[in-house]
Amino acid sequence: MIRPVTARVPAKVNVQLAVGGLRPDGFHDLANVFLAVGLYDEVTATPADTLRITVAGSDAHQVPQDHDNLAARAALALAARHGVDPAVHLHIAKDIPVAGGMAGGSADAAGALVACDALWGTGATREELLEICAELGSDVPFSLVGGAALGRGRGELLEPLETGAAFHWVFAVADGGLSTPAVYRECDRLREASGTGATVADIPDPEPSPALLEALRTGDPAALAAAVTNDLQPAALSLRPTLAGTLCAGADAGALASLVSGSGPTCAFLAKDAEAAQAVAAALAASGTCRAVRTASGPAPGATVLTG
Ligand code: C5P
Repeated sequence: MIRPVTARVPAKVNVQLAVGGLRPDGFHDLANVFLAVGLYDEVTATPADTLRITVAGSDAHQVPQDHDNLAARAALALAARHGVDPAVHLHIAKDIPVAGGMAGGSADAAGALVACDALWGTGATREELLEICAELGSDVPFSLVGGAALGRGRGELLEPLETGAAFHWVFAVADGGLSTPAVYRECDRLREASGTGATVADIPDPEPSPALLEALRTGDPAALAAAVTNDLQPAALSLRPTLAGTLCAGADAGALASLVSGSGPTCAFLAKDAEAAQAVAAALAASGTCRAVRTASGPAPGATVLTG
């Protein structure tokens, strides 16, 4: 009997998200500093008659359970390249907030890819897996590699980054998600409205912050807090003004930095250490400004097949 294969994949927070102008292909060039954090989805691949997706977890009803699911598309892409029948049941145990700006869908795609590769014995190389990931979405390659990395291009061209220590985070999960394309569109609209223009000709090329990379390298949370930025934050706040209250509540609770995670609406708070993170989490939970509060530290490993 063929045993099911389970892969565990982390969420991410963007400690810097510098967004360039709108490209002719509809994407934006980025300087995207990703940090994987220890909040995980698990994807289990089991042989089946046909490709099938099931999802468990408190947000499961918000996740597509058809071939639109990024995990299904990942399995289909790997099967097509290797001439394998994609007859697999993918079960997603969801812990990463859905449409939350933490790459939950990307995590499921990367998890499905490594789980199916192990189940089918397709033996795809790392390069091939990264290529498939990049076809599936801008954040999917990072979900595969994890750790900390600088993403250039639309976020898919990765350079691993050194981190000197674990960073401790609190995440405030909002009620309902935000659509990533809608947040990018709002960013363009705000830029147009401010008179700068929104295209690659109008906006300087995005660059990583040397101070931020140094803070990651030395593992200094105060220095990292001083350097975090997210160019999508004004757009996320414009679409979801109540997030301002969540950010204030975290800052009042003593977080070193408060920012929207990626395209939001999850808000991320950096704490000095694990104990401070617990205090910020408790204050946020009591503030009534979010649906749920989670703590996690990063860097965390990328998509990993669990053995045994
Ligand atoms: O690559 P992904 O499928 O995650 O992108 C979803 C959408 O987010 C894109 O269609 C685009 O509207 C927007 N996006 C962007 N620039 C990026 C990444 C995503 O405009 N670098």
